[in-house]
Amino acid sequence: MTDTSTRIDVERVLRRLGDLATVGAIPDTTGCARLALSDADRSARDLVVSWMRDLGLEVRIDAIGNVAGVLAGRDPSARPVMCGSHIDTVKTGGRYDGAYGVLAGLEVIESVIERGMRPRRSIAVAFFTDEEGARYAPDMLGSLVFVGGMTVEAARDVIGNDGSNLGAELDRIGYAGSLPCPMIVPHAYVELHIEQGPVLEAECFTIGAVTGVQGISWQELTFRGQSNHAGTTPMAMRHDAGYVAARVATYVRELVSQIGGAQVGTVGAIDLHPNLVNVVAARATMTVDLRNTDDNALRGAEQSLAQFVERAALDEGVDVAQRTLARFAPVQFDGRIIAMVEARARASGYRVRRMPSGAGHDAQMLARLCPSAMIFVPSHDGLSHNVAEHTEPADLGAGANVLFDVLLQLAEEGE
Ligand code: HGY
Ligand code: MN
Ligand code: MN
Repeated sequence: MTDTSTRIDVERVLRRLGDLATVGAIPDTTGCARLALSDADRSARDLVVSWMRDLGLEVRIDAIGNVAGVLAGRDPSARPVMCGSHIDTVKTGGRYDGAYGVLAGLEVIESVIERGMRPRRSIAVAFFTDEEGARYAPDMLGSLVFVGGMTVEAARDVIGNDGSNLGAELDRIGYAGSLPCPMIVPHAYVELHIEQGPVLEAECFTIGAVTGVQGISWQELTFRGQSNHAGTTPMAMRHDAGYVAARVATYVRELVSQIGGAQVGTVGAIDLHPNLVNVVAARATMTVDLRNTDDNALRGAEQSLAQFVERAALDEGVDVAQRTLARFAPVQFDGRIIAMVEARARASGYRVRRMPSGAGHDAQMLARLCPSAMIFVPSHDGLSHNVAEHTEPADLGAGANVLFDVLLQLAEEGE
């Protein structure tokens, strides 16, 4: 029997998504720029917290600025079920990445209140600090601290790629809470998120029952050569940091092609100094993002890259410094909750398939603390980390419906 009723008000979700997207809006686009702990992030936090308070939720803020709104259940001794995601974005972000999971969670809670339901377990909706890692590495920093994978002190000491200090910025925006991490130990955590890839749309599925997250390796490479005149310096005398960075960037693509399978690689940032048309670059700082569902293959890619980098630097007579920005092994989600997502999606008549996540998510950190899983909905053209990111309202509603059903089922479970 297919349940085609809707448990949530998708118009309300769309309205809140639209309101939140005005914070850090990128002019003439539908995208947003809300780098972690920026003024735009503070305004977004204030807006979502105001919605939590309007619903009468207990709002908790921990020492790294993670925020949870909690609807009390019948049994205060039972561990809550938790949903959520993030509201920070990359610099050229879309309006759905992260925000959708938080606002759909808020909608589930509002629907529960409207229906006069009183689940056994409390239901919490959270947003985690600095999921993107676009200003302060690593990514998923807030949820990593939440589960004890990084101390608050170490996180507060992080220096961003803009030279700012994380702790000072957290204090400045007023979100350094008093609660320790984890401020909640959930019975289970379920994160609803856009797929950020092309699979669901291309194969005409509405729901993704996410099986896990691939391994992530972020590193920063700094090459130091010698600035010199672009016209007078004989090629054999050059120590061109920019040339080495360019060789590494092309090598990453060649390496990924050689490895094949699930291996992906990205050089997203290259910064030359002094970055002038007639000066041989003295310094080049670049990032390399490598990912694979297979950790052994990922380690092999890291080793091959390290060997190439060393050789390329030696050939050009430049020094190289390597810094690991993030390194997370692949994560498997909880089989029982994955099956629950599938069953609930099918019961509503949605086409559903299992799939891994190519992107990192807070759920991969919560999986260290409690049974965790994710629900995906399609991304139009597979686009994300792009202002044109889009998901159809019907799919947004379907995802929120499945989140409602899975959370309420988990909220009635015994120990
Ligand atoms: O990088 C990621 O996968 C995520 O968007 N932080
Ligand atoms: Mn995200
Ligand atoms: Mn993202």
